[in-house]
Amino acid sequence: MNMDTRLLDEKNEQDIKEAGKILRRGGLVAIPTETVYGLAGNALDPTVSAQIYKVKGRPSDNPLIVHIADIKELPALVEEIPEAAKKLADAFWPGPLTIIMKKSPLVPMQTTGGLDTVAVRMPSDPTARAIINAAGVPLAAPSANLSGLPSPTSFPHVCDDLMGRVDGIVNGGDCEVGVESTVITVVTEIPRVLRPGGISVEQLRRVLGRVDVDRAVLEKPAENAKVASPGMKYKHYAPKADVYMVDASAEDYAAFLHTHSEAAALCFNEDVPYLKNRCVPYGSAADSLSQAHGLFTSLHHLDEIGAKTVYARMPRKSGVGLAVYNRLIRACAFRIVTPNEQLVIGLTGQTGAGKSTVAKQLKARGCVIIDCDAVTHDPSLYAGTCLTELQNAFGRAIIKEDGSLDRRRLANLAFASEEGKAKLNAITHPV
Ligand code: TXA
Ligand code: MG
Repeated sequence: MNMDTRLLDEKNEQDIKEAGKILRRGGLVAIPTETVYGLAGNALDPTVSAQIYKVKGRPSDNPLIVHIADIKELPALVEEIPEAAKKLADAFWPGPLTIIMKKSPLVPMQTTGGLDTVAVRMPSDPTARAIINAAGVPLAAPSANLSGLPSPTSFPHVCDDLMGRVDGIVNGGDCEVGVESTVITVVTEIPRVLRPGGISVEQLRRVLGRVDVDRAVLEKPAENAKVASPGMKYKHYAPKADVYMVDASAEDYAAFLHTHSEAAALCFNEDVPYLKNRCVPYGSAADSLSQAHGLFTSLHHLDEIGAKTVYARMPRKSGVGLAVYNRLIRACAFRIVTPNEQLVIGLTGQTGAGKSTVAKQLKARGCVIIDCDAVTHDPSLYAGTCLTELQNAFGRAIIKEDGSLDRRRLANLAFASEEGKAKLNAITHPV
């Protein structure tokens, strides 16, 4: 494909109108949204959807998201609007949330990859909404990358992938969120997250109560498995380098990379001073939003510096961090390295079972033994609030003159009744 691609600017009102005109007559335009850039076309025209798949090089069973600018456009696209969808739209639209509902006959099967459901999203980005309005039709828009590559979050990265392949590209600067929208289906009895994104699972639960997370979010789908969201089964977001995720503390990560000096580090900002490798930081350790914002740009940057092997620091999986982990683990093709992995064995059994004997033999072979009896006998464990609670429950008599716990007195009182034992456990077990 080698067509003339018009470069348009969001700041120019005439350019927005022009983008709308191209889209209305069946053309394709890459547009900015708050998540990532989208490769947009008329969602209601089956030949346009077919063209989107062709340009992206995307398998045609991987459905497209339909973008609207106003809630008034929703009823025509769906069979019905379930109660859960109303609550979600109220709480999170416009914004980075895609809701899957039963489709109406108006939406062609080509747009939904042959499914009888449709994914709908109302972006918060004002330019995206202005372009949808200018086009006068809902827009099907997958991320504006070639299939398998990282999604573009900046204008130059869209141009890298789509120059000469689409009718226009609108420059909207850098995308605010940086990872794609959260995809949730409300067609199932319990709403289910198919792809984590800019709206966290915790936020969704605050609105809907119970929300399930599809297994494919964290795990590698089995070969040929039928997955709820077809997009999750393909290798994704991958730069040209071989990327591995490293599950380690900051110290262990640095030590590991020192023995792999030829590799690049896709690390947190805070790791940089401790590494001698080429570093591409993708965000701050405790700030998942900054990681989401930086991830795709960093993956592109790894290509630009010609990295061959990359070790990525593992993000935490809560909040928007779940979306960061979900993208990064795919960029790594699910390869995780655990340097200094330690095997921890729990020895349990009733009195006389032989725990001490086995522990002694393991110790002789160099294992570190943690004796839980000894740990729970350490009086310092019960100092502070725990000691105060015990005193409130069993009386002043359990405290020795030096202020420490009299274990024998406590035992006599607590083990005298089931109730006493339960009280003791309730206070000491959390500690
Ligand atoms: O933030 C976003 O969502 C961006 C911007 C451009 O809006 N778009 C985007 O689209 O990420 P795309 O095509 O790259 O990803 C759409 C995801 C895919 O994983 C697809 O399988 C899933 O949504 N999806 C779409 N329709 C679906 C349906 N009816 N049932 C299940 N999954 C669906
Ligand atoms: Mg995509």
